[in-house]
Amino acid sequence: MRTTVIPPRRLEFEVTPPGDKSIAHRSLILNAAAVGPATVTNFPRGGDTLATLACIRALGLRVTDRREPDEFTATLTFEPHGIGGLNEPERVLDVRNSGTTMRFLLGLLAGAPMTAVLTGDRSLRGRPMGRVAEPLAQMGAEIFGRAGGTLAPLTVRGGNLHGFEYTMPVASAQVKSALLLAGLSARGPTILEEPSPSRDHTERMLRAMGVSVNGEGGRVRLDPGAPPKAIDVRVPADISGAAPWLVAGAIHPNARITVRRVGVNPTRTGIIDILLEMGARLDVGETEEGPDEPIADITVESSDLKAVEIGGSIIPRLIDELPLLALAATQAAGTTVIRDAQELRVKESDRIAATVGQLSRLGARLEERPDGMLVFGRQQLQGATVRSGGDHRLALTLGVAGVLARGTTHIDGAEAVDVSYPGFWKALEQAGGAIRPT
Ligand code: S3P
Repeated sequence: MRTTVIPPRRLEFEVTPPGDKSIAHRSLILNAAAVGPATVTNFPRGGDTLATLACIRALGLRVTDRREPDEFTATLTFEPHGIGGLNEPERVLDVRNSGTTMRFLLGLLAGAPMTAVLTGDRSLRGRPMGRVAEPLAQMGAEIFGRAGGTLAPLTVRGGNLHGFEYTMPVASAQVKSALLLAGLSARGPTILEEPSPSRDHTERMLRAMGVSVNGEGGRVRLDPGAPPKAIDVRVPADISGAAPWLVAGAIHPNARITVRRVGVNPTRTGIIDILLEMGARLDVGETEEGPDEPIADITVESSDLKAVEIGGSIIPRLIDELPLLALAATQAAGTTVIRDAQELRVKESDRIAATVGQLSRLGARLEERPDGMLVFGRQQLQGATVRSGGDHRLALTLGVAGVLARGTTHIDGAEAVDVSYPGFWKALEQAGGAIRPT
């Protein structure tokens, strides 16, 4: 599908992005390992989270999915009976485009006495799974697949795990979470060390379920005990879904946007820190400390941005927002350096190549580096035809670029936004920015 974006003269609105995708996956998969009734509200019905829902159902959990009037949100109710209560799936589990679903399910099923086969779409089948399969095998799981068990389709035969101490080669919340899930049904503690701290939604949720999970600053220890107690989750709005609006507001010359009820867990707010460092007129309202995740409104206005260096331990705190930050940098005074971000090459697409390639088509000047890019600032973007390449974060970034570019921007593969933000084009249109021809 092609969407056409025409830049609006003014951007002034309030918006609530969909529920946080990371937290939504966890609300289903962590609860599936727990016991008792659970209700999940503000569950986002995006492609990735619906893939998780379908897989969890295929494992025998009956989940009621009541859609809210906006059609993109649901309330889920279910009553899991722990890992032992899951059924061996009679068909292949299809995680579609969702790396989080794949890696989390491998961790969950590593502890279950059954055999399951998992696969996904073309992008997913090219993504590295050895980073999860290898440590799970060290814990005692059997995992087979292409390329020595490192690429999907993968078969996992679980059960009989032992805890271990493991130094993760990359900072990855997906890997950490998969190993913590396996640790729930292992004998002895699981102790993980990562190069820099990644998002901690899993640790927070497991603690709320009564699991002993301790540590901070990149070291975490889980001691298995009684089965986790299922919990109710109210999913906050996704900061990664807020990010397109934060960048649009900062770079559009005539804008004021408020993004409502955004999850502002400090392990996710790297984009706020960087936009502030770039000089953005951005205000984080009073933070509501929920039972497990903090929430705030964020307001941003047209800003005079300056270049910054983005690298080191902040990278895991903004990894999914780097294409949007690169776009912001095209409007900043000076040259922005993004480094230590080689993980971008193994996301839903090679996001370094895709960001540099597509923003260049709009007249931006960027230079690709093995672990990031240079972005030369103060470039007037010109409308052109660009492609998402099936990557939702690219589609969102190109949509925001269209809001700023002179003339008309055509985005091919615009439907990719449905993976994490199904209402995005509609929201942009309501903001005055997009039309969608056939
Ligand atoms: C996620 C972790 C990150 C992120 C992904 C979601 C999660 O991946 O890029 O969109 O929910 O744990 P990695 O853990 O591979 O860095």
